[in-house]
Amino acid sequence: MCGIVGYIGQQDTKDILLTGLEKLEYRGYDSAGIATLNDKGVNVSKVKGRIATLREAVDESIKSTQGIGHTRWATHGVPSELNAHPHQSTSGRFTIVHNGVIENYVDVRDEYLENVELKSDTDTEIIVQLIEVLHNDMNDVAAAFRKAVELLTGSYAIALLDAENEDTIYVAKNKSPLLVGLGDDFNMVASDSMAALHVTDQFLELMDKETVIVRRDGVEIQKLDGTKVSREPFTAEIDSSDIEKGTYPHFMLKEIDEQPFVIRKIIQEYQDENDNIKLDADVRAAMKACDRIYIIAAGTSYHAGLLGKQFIEKLANIPVEVHVASEFSYNMPLLSENPLFVFISQSGETADSRSVLVQTKELGHPALTVTNVPGSTLSREADYTLHLHAGPEIAVASTKAYTAQMAVLAILAVDTARAKGIELDFDPMQELGIVANTMEALADQKEKFEDLAREYLQTTRNCFFIGRGTDYYVGLEGSLKLKEISYIQAEGFAGGELKHGTIALIEEGTPVIALATQENVNYSIRGNVQEVEARGANSMIISMKGLDKEGDAFVIPQVHELLTPLVSVLPMQLISYYAALHRDCDVDKPRNLAKSVTVE
Ligand code: G6P
Repeated sequence: MCGIVGYIGQQDTKDILLTGLEKLEYRGYDSAGIATLNDKGVNVSKVKGRIATLREAVDESIKSTQGIGHTRWATHGVPSELNAHPHQSTSGRFTIVHNGVIENYVDVRDEYLENVELKSDTDTEIIVQLIEVLHNDMNDVAAAFRKAVELLTGSYAIALLDAENEDTIYVAKNKSPLLVGLGDDFNMVASDSMAALHVTDQFLELMDKETVIVRRDGVEIQKLDGTKVSREPFTAEIDSSDIEKGTYPHFMLKEIDEQPFVIRKIIQEYQDENDNIKLDADVRAAMKACDRIYIIAAGTSYHAGLLGKQFIEKLANIPVEVHVASEFSYNMPLLSENPLFVFISQSGETADSRSVLVQTKELGHPALTVTNVPGSTLSREADYTLHLHAGPEIAVASTKAYTAQMAVLAILAVDTARAKGIELDFDPMQELGIVANTMEALADQKEKFEDLAREYLQTTRNCFFIGRGTDYYVGLEGSLKLKEISYIQAEGFAGGELKHGTIALIEEGTPVIALATQENVNYSIRGNVQEVEARGANSMIISMKGLDKEGDAFVIPQVHELLTPLVSVLPMQLISYYAALHRDCDVDKPRNLAKSVTVE
């Protein structure tokens, strides 16, 4: 988490940095700062709060063509102006921004910095103070920088200014994402290409444990031992208009509305001219060769994984386990003989998932990443990648990436089944086409969901989601959506499990949202609704055409039973959106969260 940006060129840097940071706010937004360098030295502005607050605090009169900036999601030390980046060394000569977590910062502090008075509670300040201490001995900034980086363990993307060098930004990367943006008479560094798209679409990828000397007229990548690395730039494929809200009040609403287009894009990308599934032959071979699939993911992607398991087991007949990444790392289950690891990640940067990838690669197991960002760390480091084609997802609460993940997993499951010679009475592209149309029909009925949110969730403190089978998994996602953006305590339960404890929480008026889209459990989930109603719950049933009953709050048009989660989640997303809106919550940037969680 946290986003960093740096610019060195001919233009005044403040606006370039602030615009870049606005695009990185999804990575963290509890405090922010920039540092600019000119012939009078370094000027630092920092605030607790958002980039909008930082914009107001920045001194417009200071001109500079070189600077670094940061937007923070606190890991060490509370969000405050003092702990906000950039941080400076005691003399003020060195100024740093950092994304990541320095695991050995206590050891470094005790060994090298016992005579240094630290000003903040951050691990980041340790880096900049260490550089100064090493520089006092070595008298060579580049060498002191490299030496400092060598002494660090953990994750970092770092950009450093030296007040006595108006033509260099020192950069290093390990595990945290970082790119160099290339221009004619300027260069940039950024956690994500979105932060530099307003000035360039040419980028250099950086590998772990590389450092870069970034100057106005060129960049030099080095390994930690000083050997030079040459690398060709790539062109970022994102259109800068993809990362604007346009006429929408929030990115989340825009992204909910984009879902039908994303599904159609996936159909187009995964189908060849003969209407066959178009998929990397190596992915097909890996799916066919494995005896068990281990899906690893976090948050919403984990919920998509639960549904991916349904698709793969039911269609391709391969056993699948779905694991929360942060648990798997520390508590690995017994593995099968020929496992295939499938990492599902919108960002492709989630540290918990990456740490599993590192572990399983060491064991020699193949890995497939299903991601929205093909150049991301998880994509680069896995053997194979499947792209979601969802376009940039900016709202912290994931919507279109979730449905895209399910669509791609369904296609993968069908392709694997066909490769294994399993006959299926299921045309995924045709059925996904129906899904896209149905999504459109649901998105057109926003008033209905706004009314339901008002009726059920305006004042409540808690809410339960129940379902059985795949409806249970969609309920888990519904409860995550609602809690993360509206702060209503929301939990998802398997309908039949409710009475084994949780039903004790049902009181007069407690909202219970039940999903009833599966024929085989329609009778039993409705029985569970009766049970909570008998205890005073205010229940709402979202059902599917053909299974509906009088009194259901909303009936979704019918789609193929296997694909119902792709459409039944839309009411969950929209109800959550309006509940958050009615409660005046910051829909796109909920408190305490970040979109890309790059720390474990
Ligand atoms: C964060 C986001 C969630 C997301 C999760 C996993 O917690 O707020 O929306 O589901 O990370 O992210 P990934 O990029 O790996 O899908």
